[in-house]
Amino acid sequence: MKRPIEKRFVWLNGEIVPLDQAKINILSPTSQFGANVFEGIRCYWNEENKQLYAFRLREHYQRLKNSIKIFRMEDKYSVEEMQQGLIDVIKANEYKEDIAVRQTVFIDGFGSWMSKGPIGMFIAPVPKPRTASLTKGLRCAVSSWERISEKNLSPRVKVGANYINSRMAQMEALENGYDSAIFMNSQGKISEGPGSCLFIVRDGVLMTPPVTASILESITRETIIKLAREVLNIETIERDIDRTELYICDEAFLCGSAMEIAPVTDVDGYTVKNGEVGEITMKIHKEYLKVVAGKSSEYQKWLTPIYDI
Ligand SMILES: Cc1ncc(COP(=O)(O)O)c(C=O)c1O
Repeated sequence: MKRPIEKRFVWLNGEIVPLDQAKINILSPTSQFGANVFEGIRCYWNEENKQLYAFRLREHYQRLKNSIKIFRMEDKYSVEEMQQGLIDVIKANEYKEDIAVRQTVFIDGFGSWMSKGPIGMFIAPVPKPRTASLTKGLRCAVSSWERISEKNLSPRVKVGANYINSRMAQMEALENGYDSAIFMNSQGKISEGPGSCLFIVRDGVLMTPPVTASILESITRETIIKLAREVLNIETIERDIDRTELYICDEAFLCGSAMEIAPVTDVDGYTVKNGEVGEITMKIHKEYLKVVAGKSSEYQKWLTPIYDI
């Protein structure tokens, strides 16, 4: 049964409530300063097995724990509690389709930007269909905004406030007629997109900036590296990438839990190869969607079934 969005259930501080009854204090540090850390988790419906699979939950909760630690927040919830909350709220909504789940741990109460608690958590699952095909590529611009760095606001922490940097780059790109942006870091090397990581292909070699290039330690990025090496036999390296390599590469794509794999066919007005979605990009996209939907026996270990069947 489909409910209107405001009647869908969310999990807030241990209770499952309709979205329009989930309230957060407007004076809390999360509301005033973006003092929250979060994960965007995908769950994919497998029609054959009549099962919904959460993708790489263990890795998402490890990253959330890392964000909590670096950000010096009280560590209130165990991984088991976080996972149980996610399962309970998905079941409450009876979702039998592809969904995206926002799981956010936030600083509540009446403190300031330097409070460590009290801690709240919400878990909000919403329907989100997968990208069906890769017919059209993105036109991207290298941003005039520099990616945040370890010297100011670590991109390794998935904190709400980091997205102001992403917002500036994305808004600039849209204003200038592009679809999205690609950041350079403080070293002048390519880092990532506003909400995604970047791969390019040169002479058959798949390349992506290292985790020290001012990027989020993306779970999709790590998944793609493993699938490329272990299943597709594509040589894959993590190394610094220069801006002008984007102008002469054979293929480029952005990736993330939300966007999955999105080909980039133009950077700063330079057409990537012939402007069509590349062969390696298509192979990776196909393999990725097979794995996330539970159609690869080898990678079942990355999936958590939601329903008891
Ligand atoms: C800045 C940034 N980089 C990369 C990613 C991709 O990370 P993941 O693959 O874990 O979703 C995201 C996703 O939200 C992001 O916000």
